[in-house]
Amino acid sequence: MRNTVNLLTFFLVCYPIVTASTVVFNVVDYGAVGDGQADDTDAFARAWRETCASLSPPIMIIPSERSFLIQPLRFMGPCESNPLAVLIEGNLVAPIDPSTWKCGANGCNQWLYFYRVEGLTLHGQGTIDGRGHQWWQNKLMEISNSANVRVGGGLRFGNSPMMHLVLHGLQSVFVSDVTIQAPEDSPNTDGIHLQDSTDAHIDSCAIGTGDDCIAILNGSSNVRITNIKCGPGHGISIGSLGKNGQEDRVEDIRVSDVVFLGATNGARIKTWQGGRGYARDIHFQRFWFQDTINPIIIDQFYCNQLSQCPPSNSAVEISNVSFKMMVGSSGRGNVVVLNCSEAVPCRGIVVEDMHIVATGNTQATYNCANVLGRAQGHLVPEIAF
Ligand SMILES: *[C@@H]1O[C@H](CO)[C@@H](O)[C@H](O)[C@H]1NC(C)=O
Ligand SMILES: *[C@@H]1O[C@H](CO)[C@@H](O)[C@H](O)[C@H]1NC(C)=O
Ligand SMILES: *[C@@H]1O[C@H](CO)[C@@H](O)[C@H](O)[C@H]1NC(C)=O
Repeated sequence: MRNTVNLLTFFLVCYPIVTASTVVFNVVDYGAVGDGQADDTDAFARAWRETCASLSPPIMIIPSERSFLIQPLRFMGPCESNPLAVLIEGNLVAPIDPSTWKCGANGCNQWLYFYRVEGLTLHGQGTIDGRGHQWWQNKLMEISNSANVRVGGGLRFGNSPMMHLVLHGLQSVFVSDVTIQAPEDSPNTDGIHLQDSTDAHIDSCAIGTGDDCIAILNGSSNVRITNIKCGPGHGISIGSLGKNGQEDRVEDIRVSDVVFLGATNGARIKTWQGGRGYARDIHFQRFWFQDTINPIIIDQFYCNQLSQCPPSNSAVEISNVSFKMMVGSSGRGNVVVLNCSEAVPCRGIVVEDMHIVATGNTQATYNCANVLGRAQGHLVPEIAF
């Protein structure tokens, strides 16, 4: 019954292109068992092959109230039909013991990998559970080299061995109504990792992981993010950019209406010394922080413990960045850190209307170096640069 109802909603709300000619491919009809024990990889692969070969708009269905155990699997395009949908109502689980992952010739970089599928919609109330506790190493799901992609409808991602949802090389992607959860201490488990993608829209997502809630990397432009709950996690990050002297470019990013609960950073831009390229036209608006260590941070001296990062005359240029209507509390005193280099100062930086208090006995302070721009409106703490 639930299936029928959801399917109907799905047809009506999310898949208006559905017609009498829509074809349904249910993984159970291809031999998938869904008891969480049997290996359903081959059944999924067969169902995908037919879905992808379908000339009429297909829907591949993963039914509810079952758990499908899947080995690393590639959903390769191009497919015959655009649009094409995968309705995930049941749960997908990875083998719990990493030593039993069958990686095959393709390696194990991703657990679920969608490649070159134009007009892909992933939708449903199912959970995509990487059960990655034992190795925290690989990506959960990657969608790459595709256009007009939609992910949403209540899907849940969790416990990825590494990044959860990788969006790479996409043109026009909509992610909406998705929940992503992994423990705070799980390493490198970015929630959504966006790279080489244009026209990306992310809204109404709750993300709590051990790394960035959303990370925006090289080649991203025209990105619109709104209505996000972030935490635990490392915030909404642009970068890191310019590692190993790389030329990286990020521009035209708008992030608004974000609540940070138990996150270490809020709005963050991080670049390495010695890099090239730019991060520009980036606007953060209406953020609310609870005990965030660094609510607002630009760090042009980003470095991890494994690297040597001597100062350089070269850096990713940061310009035209605004932080507006930022309110809440910081778990440490340093509410605003804008740390730019002497050789490549940050330009066109605006902080406008901010009320962030320090919790505990600390005094709210700020620290800015080599920043050109202005702070205006209501400002607590009262900053200037
Ligand atoms: C960064 O992205 C641009 C544009 O997509 C691309 O041309 C360039 O090769 C990328 N840089 C690196 C270091 O990958
Ligand atoms: C920054 O914004 C100013 C004023 O809106 C504009 O003239 C300038 O071209 C922008 N610079 C960059 C690098 O985007
Ligand atoms: C800025 O970064 C430099 C280099 O890592 C560091 O020495 C300095 O303390 C930082 N300043 C602030 C305000 O964080």
